[in-house]
Amino acid sequence: MKQKILVIHGPNLNMLGKREPEKYGTSTLDEINATIEAHGNKAGIEVHVCQSNHEGSIVDKIQQARDIFDALIINPAAYTHTSIAIRDAILLLDIPVIEIHLSNIFKRESFRHKSLLCDVVTGQITGFGMYGYIMALDAMINILQ
Ligand code: DQA
Repeated sequence: MKQKILVIHGPNLNMLGKREPEKYGTSTLDEINATIEAHGNKAGIEVHVCQSNHEGSIVDKIQQARDIFDALIINPAAYTHTSIAIRDAILLLDIPVIEIHLSNIFKRESFRHKSLLCDVVTGQITGFGMYGYIMALDAMINILQ
């Protein structure tokens, strides 16, 4: 059976392309998702992508990932800095989890320096733009081997 990786994009990431392109790049979320899916396919991995602007929906998606997915890649966007609920949902999983950010959160405003997830995920990738998703997928493929 093919391994399955879930990629969750958090709030405002549906606006990529139009949203602060100097920080987040000019690619749209559809373009990023197509790149992620193609990269996964090449490696023989099934990649599922989803996006939500709502904290509770993200918690639901993480809970549903239990027993279905082999790994989770998540850009929690602004919820990174605020959401104990998403942190607690990640603690329900016993699969590898990578936290990813397009921008380098440590080079930005001080309120972005704190991630409530960083100590409950397998690892964090921050600051490599959309290439970070490819890095995250490759890291996951390596972990799952
Ligand atoms: C982000 C960084 C967050 O601080 C911000 O709220 C986002 C995007 C990133 O990908 O760089 O929405 O997660």
